[in-house]
Amino acid sequence: MGDIAKLSAGGADFEYPVIKGSVGPDVIDIRKLYGQTGMFTYDPGFTSTAACESALTFIDGDEGVLLHRGYAIGELAEHSTFMETSYLLLNGELPNQAQLDDFTRTISRHTMLHEQLATFYRGFRRDAHPMAIMCGVVGALSAFYHDSTDIADPVHRKISSHRLIAKMPTIAAMAYKYSVGQPFVYPDNSLSYTGNFLRMTFGVPAENYEVNPVVERALDRIFILHADHEQNASTSTVRLAGSSGANPFACIAAGIACLWGPAHGGANEAALNMLHEIGTPDRIPHYIERARDKNDPFRLMGFGHRVYKNYDPRATVMQQTVREVFTALKVSDPVFEVALQLEEMALNDPYFMEKKLFPNVDFYSGVILSAIGFPTTMFTVLFALARTVGWVAQWNEMISDPGQKIGRPRQLYTGPANRSYVPLTKR
Ligand code: CMC
Repeated sequence: MGDIAKLSAGGADFEYPVIKGSVGPDVIDIRKLYGQTGMFTYDPGFTSTAACESALTFIDGDEGVLLHRGYAIGELAEHSTFMETSYLLLNGELPNQAQLDDFTRTISRHTMLHEQLATFYRGFRRDAHPMAIMCGVVGALSAFYHDSTDIADPVHRKISSHRLIAKMPTIAAMAYKYSVGQPFVYPDNSLSYTGNFLRMTFGVPAENYEVNPVVERALDRIFILHADHEQNASTSTVRLAGSSGANPFACIAAGIACLWGPAHGGANEAALNMLHEIGTPDRIPHYIERARDKNDPFRLMGFGHRVYKNYDPRATVMQQTVREVFTALKVSDPVFEVALQLEEMALNDPYFMEKKLFPNVDFYSGVILSAIGFPTTMFTVLFALARTVGWVAQWNEMISDPGQKIGRPRQLYTGPANRSYVPLTKR
């Protein structure tokens, strides 16, 4: 018999099974709690609640470990490609050469968008934020690709998954082109996933675009770093939306909307804005002081994480990648110096040490993306592009689970109890 957890509540004792995962904390299975005790658990922000079973990604926040299907993120960033990591996330194992070639070919066959979607873009205001465009366009995909929205059919699920992964770079690049008033650039399937995205973003029809291999590799690595991250807010949003049976395009649009917030995917944009605002290293102590001040809402963007209470392993790779990109593009940026010094000061500051606040993936990503040429408004778009494979893999895992149920959290109600309606004349 496995372990059990005992609970005394309302004068009675109850026992609940403890379920063990392959690694990480065990969970107490409280599914019968309400039926037996008439009580719910209370866990706003889900700090202690496992909402699903998953074999995709594992994080050990205390040790600063992130595994995709068992492989450390640092190793994947060094040796893998985004296409290979995508295959791994979707299928559970690393592909052999033939499987990788086949997967890459399949994805590249889906890169084009329905031509009518170009008209859809033109309906947005000229100065629309690319994330707003992305939410709208991805949500609209179900209107254009309704031949793959039967979620009960595994073939439909596979096609829509491939479509989402393949079309996201095209959608993101078109959002950028629209915002700068340049013509859309069609995909070129002879290029890599990331090279194609760079060309669609920075190329113009009037000239040949040469993909810089160092930039291509750096961006591909950034995509790997963002590919999946366990049950974060946007992934949980995708799962919750999907649990009702909504089509995958609608679910991913919901994930994109959630990702946009500054506490989640929007933090890379906010982090770079903050570094620019700080401007010079001599101003750093003032900002550290503000971050420590309980009466000041300011937070050091790119610092702290719900799960990591150690250095975010993705931030380590990011910091190395900044140097590579700067060397290859022969650029320097004073904000990188500000970032390095800010990191050092914060890591040695008692407030940050005591609260275990370390740099997260977003601290350096903005510095690299801006060196490559992306405006800040595109940062979260790139995060969404890369995270799509994680969302899709998590959504597939959920839908394929025969025990899957609609997500329906409970609440602690604190409003008025039942009361009689008072006619308007008596109020
Ligand atoms: N600067 C200053 N203080 C902070 C920071 C920060 N960046 N982050 C957390 N704290 C403090 C916070 O004020 C709180 O203090 P106290 O206990 O005195 O009230 C304590 O640390 C715990 O913070 P929390 O908000 O309860 O922790 P959380 O797990 O709910 O929040 C977080 C995690 C990421 C939202 C938060 O650290 C934060 O707002 N960071 C800045 C935004 C950011 O960089 N987000 C990107 C996250 S990584 C990318 C992703 O996976 O999406």
